[in-house]
Parts: sequence; C-alpha cells; structure tokens
Amino acid sequence: MNKGSKLYEGKAKIIYETKDKNLLIQHFKDDATAFNNLKKAKVEGKGVLNNRISEYILTNLSQCGIKTHLVKRLNMREQLIRKAEIFPVEFIVRNIATGSLTKRLGIPEGTVLEKPLLEYCYKNDQLKDPLISKEHIFSFGWADEKEIKLIDKLTLRINDILTGMFRAIDIKLVDFKIEYGKAWNKDAEKKEIVLADEISPDTCRLWDVKTEKKLDKDRFRKDLGNIIQAYQEVARRLRIMPEETNISEVNFGKTIPIKFKKK
Ligand code: TMP
Ligand code: ASP
Repeated sequence: MNKGSKLYEGKAKIIYETKDKNLLIQHFKDDATAFNNLKKAKVEGKGVLNNRISEYILTNLSQCGIKTHLVKRLNMREQLIRKAEIFPVEFIVRNIATGSLTKRLGIPEGTVLEKPLLEYCYKNDQLKDPLISKEHIFSFGWADEKEIKLIDKLTLRINDILTGMFRAIDIKLVDFKIEYGKAWNKDAEKKEIVLADEISPDTCRLWDVKTEKKLDKDRFRKDLGNIIQAYQEVARRLRIMPEETNISEVNFGKTIPIKFKKK
C-alpha cells in the first residue's frame, strides 16, 4: 500500500492518505510529549514498540468481537487503518487512582476503585483536553446518547479484556485512554463505531504486580528514566519480543536492541 499525502500530524503519530479513500496509514513516531506538549523528547525505538504493542492489543480485542480501525501492520512503524471520523472525546478508564484523579480530587494515590471509573475529556490540545460530562457531549453534538451508551459498554468490556490480558503477564492495568470513530462497514452501506488510535504504554498506566514498577509513559512524565526498557519489558512479557531478549530487573537500564519475531 503506497503512502499518499500527509493528512494530519499529531504528537506521537502521523496519518497519511492512501489510494483507497477509506484507508489510511498510521505512522508511529519516536516523539514523546507530556503535559500537553510542554515536555518533549525523542525516545528512540518508542514508535516501533508502540506500533507492535498496539497491533497486538487491537488484534486481540478484535478476536473478542470489538470492532477496531486496524486492518494490518505494514512495517516496523506503520499500520493500515480504516478511515474513521473520530469523536472529539478521550475515554478514560481508571481502576486504581493516580495521575490527574489524585490531583483533582485528592483521592490517595493507589486507591483501588470499587468499580472502573469512566471519564470523558474534550479532545482539544489548546484547551488541554478538559474533563467534561456526558451532558457536554450531548449538548455540543460530539456524540449522541445511543453512541455513548454503546461506547461506554465497549469501553468497560475492553477494560475487562485488557485487565485479564495484563494480569496474565503480572501487570496491573491502572488506567488508560481510548478513542473511537465512525468508519464505513465492510459493505460500505453504513458507518459503524470502531476503536481507533492506539493502545500502548503511551496511553495506559501499567504497573508490575509485585514491585509496582511503572512500565509506561509515567517514566517519561516523571523523569524516572529507562523509558524504552519499560516498553520493551511490556513487549517481552506479551511475547512479542523473542524470549532471548531477557530484560530482567538486573539489566533494567541497559540498552537492548529491538528484535521482533517474524510473523
Ligand atoms: P491522567 O491521570 O493524566 O488524566 O491520565 C489518565 C490516563 O489517560 C493515563 O493512562 C494516561 C492516559 N492519557 C493519554 O493517553 N493521553 C493524554 O493526553 C492524557 C492526559 C492521558
Ligand atoms: N499526551 C499528552 C501530551 O502530549 C499528555 C500526556 O500523555 O501526559 O501532552
């Protein structure tokens, strides 16, 4: 699939057109940003790992019946995706209190929530993605009630699937952010809601079950170091990286070359 012109460049990804008007190419950059672009850096290899981890997660979700925008991974940094009209809303699920929830409401860090907490943010960089309520979504026509009812249901199901997937590799899924869009269905007769964007250590908080070591973008946000090693550890535990790439507590900190299993 040949890359056409650039359609959009975000903080961590670039979207290109293709010859097919319903398909796009999603390119994963090495750029890391936090606090709405205030903090920026290049993390070599991050794009490659996020491409692979997100492909793995979305493929698994799709096998569980969740419709996604992913068609296939094309190469180390790119995926072929269905063109989707993205809802301007970030859907956040929290299982354990941390991050902006603890800052905003004073909930103690690490509090295990009785049930998953759903939050909505308006996707707008200039306004710093403010927290909104469902009523804002309906008032401004960002999605209708039927769409949000379905999205809420899908989001909680995704949380269940991912919580289990990560628990099996000794990782706690603390919280995450997802996005949805509307894409033409297979027969191009109507649009359907699909999971879009990415799910990766950039968009989740992942803690090691035993040590609570952070294996996600908080290592960048909080200057904890060893960002790429943490992402590699997630890929290794998901068995995306070869077994011989042994990133243990002992060598956490060394640079490990990124190798992937052939499909
Ligand atoms: P928060 O605690 O900073 O609100 O983040 C909640 C979750 O959403 C966390 O897993 C990180 C993710 N997230 C993004 O993916 N993109 C963003 O722009 C923000 C603010 C959070
Ligand atoms: N993605 C946001 C930014 O680039 C915030 C974050 O992930 O912390 O600033």
